[in-house]
Amino acid sequence: MHLRKLIAGNWKMNKTTSDAVALARDLAAALGQQNDIDVAVCPPFTALESVGKVLDGSIIKLGAQNLHPEASGAFTGEISAPMLRALFVTHVIVGHSERRVLFGETDSFINQKVLTALKHQLRPILCVGENLAEREAGATLRIIQTQIEAAFEGVSKELAPSVIVAYEPVWAIGTGKVATAEQAQEVHGFIRGLLAKLFTETVARKGRILYGGSMKPANAGELLGQKDIDGGLIGGASLEARSFVDLVRAAAEAK
Ligand code: 13P
Repeated sequence: MHLRKLIAGNWKMNKTTSDAVALARDLAAALGQQNDIDVAVCPPFTALESVGKVLDGSIIKLGAQNLHPEASGAFTGEISAPMLRALFVTHVIVGHSERRVLFGETDSFINQKVLTALKHQLRPILCVGENLAEREAGATLRIIQTQIEAAFEGVSKELAPSVIVAYEPVWAIGTGKVATAEQAQEVHGFIRGLLAKLFTETVARKGRILYGGSMKPANAGELLGQKDIDGGLIGGASLEARSFVDLVRAAAEAK
């Protein structure tokens, strides 16, 4: 069974509100008729409300880049799930490697975020991935297994398929060094097998696994043609309408 592909843009710390609105307008205009692919964009918090208004009525879903496990309280600088829900956010990135590495997020903190997102009907886009040293040491699958097992701790088998996994090899993020289709498929197949072991075959079949790391229109077709690659989480190429739209079209052709 082939799952409906999802192309999600992670805008990271880019775009003022007015720049974000302009990009969202271009995307909504270009992708209005594209209803065979799921599409989401994750602008910075400051632009969520304005971008949400622009996307209202379009096929493009609104995602956030992070959330805090608590619903409210003394957590200066943080954003909670109810705050996101109030802005009609449907997806939230959790455990991105930039948050793991630059902001010290641990597997158990990421697990709390996954559980919170699910509790509030937000679909977590859970990022996992090995760094270059880990890949070179042959530790890739072990690292992925640890990250997945920790992130899914306490998730029910009913809710597990709502978690979208994004395999993002850290060495491929923003470097222009994309994983080969074979390298990516090996890890994606491993993740699907692991989900079957942790939950059921059905969970493994229904759960989407995205690839992220230097995905561009030129390499998307080959990656998205792999059996266990159900979409992409796009950084750099999501910041311009032309390349993001081309990626969505490549995904439509690869299905
Ligand atoms: P790039 O597409 O810029 O490599 O970023 C990938 C990423 O980190 C998406 O979350």
